[in-house]
Amino acid sequence: MARNVVVIIGAGGMGQAIARRQGPGARVLVADFDGELLESVTGGLRGEGYEVTPAAVDVSSPDSVVALAERAASLGEVRAVVHTAGLSPVQAPVPAILAVDLLGVALVLEEFGKVVASGGAGVVIASMAGHFRPPVSDEDALRLATAPARELLSLPVAEASRFSAPGEAYSFAKYANLLRVRGASPVWGERGARVNSISPGVIATPMGQAELSGESGAGMRMMIDASNAKRVGAPADIAAAADFLLGPSSGFVSGTDLLVDGGVVAAVRTGRLG
Ligand SMILES: NC(=O)c1ccc[n+]([C@@H]2O[C@H](COP(=O)([O-])OP(=O)(O)OC[C@H]3O[C@@H](n4cnc5c(N)ncnc54)[C@H](O)[C@@H]3O)[C@@H](O)[C@H]2O)c1
Repeated sequence: MARNVVVIIGAGGMGQAIARRQGPGARVLVADFDGELLESVTGGLRGEGYEVTPAAVDVSSPDSVVALAERAASLGEVRAVVHTAGLSPVQAPVPAILAVDLLGVALVLEEFGKVVASGGAGVVIASMAGHFRPPVSDEDALRLATAPARELLSLPVAEASRFSAPGEAYSFAKYANLLRVRGASPVWGERGARVNSISPGVIATPMGQAELSGESGAGMRMMIDASNAKRVGAPADIAAAADFLLGPSSGFVSGTDLLVDGGVVAAVRTGRLG
């Protein structure tokens, strides 16, 4: 019997939590561009009894993503694809943010949309940051949703020169992720698969901690204090949401976003921040 393959792209905090939740009984392909991290994460998961295959990938490289999708398909039935790889504003300049957080997501959706199994599902990790920016025009939204991935960064609306700081490029990329997922949904549907995104709030991972220690940290703490949860999220909070979107309970859900932020966006958008 062909084994079910769970693909986890990005071996950071959320990727590891989702791998642990989805991994039992599956062949888990864990991919990242940080070789050292990949080795330690896959070694740790193996030690816990998971069947893990490591793969080096740079999600901003079309050839690298094509090779990863082929590798996944060679392992068995690709039932779950989870894209968590990303760079945050404190980690990278504007062009790298656009290449990884926008183009990378588009490439993964495009290439894994060619290999995902019937009945399979995908989840892209976007961000609540995408919920704080104004929408683009309907025409630009359609282009962002449907342009071939390799042409995405040439669209005028996505030109690096439009963004004065990495944070602006990050929130744009994360907003555009939701549009890409909407664009990918009918394509994945042709294979009998679904795809959705999750927009996390502040989550206690290496990336979340780096942002909290950065120049936006004080503002982020104020938003958390104004929220329902009044705490940072745990990677397990995101793994639980991903479990819903990857499993049979969400069989009627595709092309949409699940905001998992402890209530931050609702509080800020209704003036609770003062
Ligand atoms: N942690 C938070 O507070 C938070 C909040 C909202 C959204 N997010 C998003 O959630 C996702 C997961 O973040 P995390 O908190 O697990 O971060 P993390 O830093 O722990 O993990 C991200 C992983 O992506 C990998 N990566 C970066 N560039 C890559 C590339 N070009 N190719 C392949 N891998 C690459 C990194 O090596 C790292 O292992 C990211 O997309 C992030 O933007 C995080």
